[in-house]
Amino acid sequence: MTHTFTIAIDGPAGAGKGTLARRLADHYRLNLLDTGLTYRAVAYALIQHALPLDNVSAAETAARQVDLAKLDRTVLSAHAVGEAASKVAVYPTVRRILVEKQRDFAKTPPGAVLDGRDIGTVVCPDADIKLYVTASAEVRARRRLNEIESIGGNANFAEILADIQRRDERDMGRADSPLKPAADAHLLDTSEMAIEAAFLAAMAIIDDVLAKRDKA
Ligand code: DC
Repeated sequence: MTHTFTIAIDGPAGAGKGTLARRLADHYRLNLLDTGLTYRAVAYALIQHALPLDNVSAAETAARQVDLAKLDRTVLSAHAVGEAASKVAVYPTVRRILVEKQRDFAKTPPGAVLDGRDIGTVVCPDADIKLYVTASAEVRARRRLNEIESIGGNANFAEILADIQRRDERDMGRADSPLKPAADAHLLDTSEMAIEAAFLAAMAIIDDVLAKRDKA
């Protein structure tokens, strides 16, 4: 059997898990999957066809058509698509279809870094490393505001914060695969940590697991 290495990264929107996942995938030479894009692709397909987000059978069809090799981050990164993704992500049948694709991806050698909400708990419960990356809602809102302003945009802190809190509630409160740390996840709170420090902390955790494995 070919051994693959899996790093599962979960956490709320805006905690920095995407950047961390990319850095770790580069460093350990693993494949990378931002599973949020798969839910976004489903939401985007419904929006494109002017279908309501609670049309479950259309969402299932869109989920079956998701091609992991063709996820277009530029199109899918729009804020409204993220909101809509969080809504279609509550449907168990939609999740099952996407989770199966995500598991196949994780099994492809040499392995992968996957980031999302339920990677350590549902998609890859046997992952070699599980990280739960979080930050206070205020810090995440501030980062998002800075991001918008840095590209010349305009936004309101209170609105962004309310948005983030609403999204957290939906992602943590849904019945199927809610966002929560796996029992064996390492917690990384990036509220007062720059991305470089978070990367170094994650690397220390991973290198420790690898060293113990080499000795075993
Ligand atoms: O990480 P993101 O903002 O791209 O995710 C968009 C939405 O997709 C998120 O609010 C909830 C859903 N999602 C999920 O339910 N499970 C995942 N593994 C990834 C994302």
